[in-house]
Amino acid sequence: MPKIHQSRLRRWVSRAPWVAPIIVVAAVLLRVGVSGSVADAAAPAQPTLAELKADFARPKTTPFPADDPYSKAKAHLGELLFWDPILSGSGTQSCASCHNPGLSWTDGLRLGVGTQAMKTHTPTMLNIAWAPVLGWDGHFPSLEAVAFSGPITNPGIMNRKPDDLIKALSAIPGYRAAFAAAFADHAVTETHIADALATFERTIVSGPAPFDRWIDGDENAISAQAKHGFALFTGKAGCSNCHIGWAFTDEGFYDIGTATGDDIGRARLFPNTVKLKYAFKVPTLRDVARRAPYMHNGSEATLADVIDLYDRGGIDRPSRADFIKPLHLTAQEKADLIAFLDTLTSDPKPTDSPVLPR
Ligand code: HEC
Ligand code: HEC
Repeated sequence: MPKIHQSRLRRWVSRAPWVAPIIVVAAVLLRVGVSGSVADAAAPAQPTLAELKADFARPKTTPFPADDPYSKAKAHLGELLFWDPILSGSGTQSCASCHNPGLSWTDGLRLGVGTQAMKTHTPTMLNIAWAPVLGWDGHFPSLEAVAFSGPITNPGIMNRKPDDLIKALSAIPGYRAAFAAAFADHAVTETHIADALATFERTIVSGPAPFDRWIDGDENAISAQAKHGFALFTGKAGCSNCHIGWAFTDEGFYDIGTATGDDIGRARLFPNTVKLKYAFKVPTLRDVARRAPYMHNGSEATLADVIDLYDRGGIDRPSRADFIKPLHLTAQEKADLIAFLDTLTSDPKPTDSPVLPR
């Protein structure tokens, strides 16, 4: 079975763990059926560099769901709402206070700080249009579901009552006009607020980086060291078993050794699936050099710390992901991996905060 097919299978399994046994049986039957023995078929063909590069090519368009399609007016309204501290009970904190574009849409802190200290690190908003489920443990079923079941109403985060927010927005002529432009019924409602925020968030896509120019054929776009780092990333270090696709995530959930105790991650939703204990969402690696610290708990201060964590091989326990094991990287190899990760940093692009209606 070619490598990419295996990783697509895994992606599916980690999203829907109950299908795993069916796939294993089917895969064994398939191998036996085609080659006569499981052992014969076990050695995968090595992918060529061109095939590897193709696994990471940028998509041409951003996906928007049929029940919340893109419109310019809706994205504009969503941008206003994202930046507006009117969304918080105290009137001092906006989504952008924590998801700050200047800090790669996060906050530079180990853990988020709302009205109270949060238990998790603020994730970036980059490339979340492609994420099938949201949150470090995947408990939000859609981007639309995040705003009100997550930050806005949570007393520990923005602490705003939906009715009060709707009243406050309805009292501002500029907002009434923006809702009228975005929605046929002109109404200021919870659903419209959530849809507009989600539409704006889907427009937050990482820009082209030196890595993209390299896979497009410019051999000088990245250094020889970074190319060696890419070979390690897709080879000895095994990173692309999970960080695959143009955004460098298979959108799966794995235990890589960042959590202990009752910080059980996705097992909160799937308590009986061994591999989902201490499993968290694979983050995008686009622009990753811009947003230390790292991981769901902000536990790794630098990219060098991240590489050391993988080199140690996580924590040996039943939930540990299959691809996490001691890597025995040399100091040179660690530096090469970091040089490669740096090539995912896009060209700087200033983001201005919009003028808010008042
Ligand atoms: C006080 C800081 C803070 C504020 C304010 C805040 N967030 Fe977040 N956000 C977080 C943290 C922390 C998480 C991770 C939650 C988790 O999964 O444990 C998060 C997660 C998310 C996610 C999921 C991202 C992913 O990769 O899965 C989305 C989407 C999101 N926030 C959107 C918003 C929107 C929209 C607002 C404004 C209405 C907002 N946030 C306000 C800190 C904040
Ligand atoms: C088994 C799947 C898997 C493999 C293999 C893997 N990762 Fe990860 N990676 C993850 C998960 C899951 C997280 C988030 C864990 C958490 O938040 O606790 C993560 C987080 C990261 C982060 C932090 C990103 C952020 O925004 O916080 C970086 C950087 C990273 N990985 C790089 C690598 C590199 C380099 C390799 C190879 C040495 C690698 N990963 C191998 C699954 C994997």
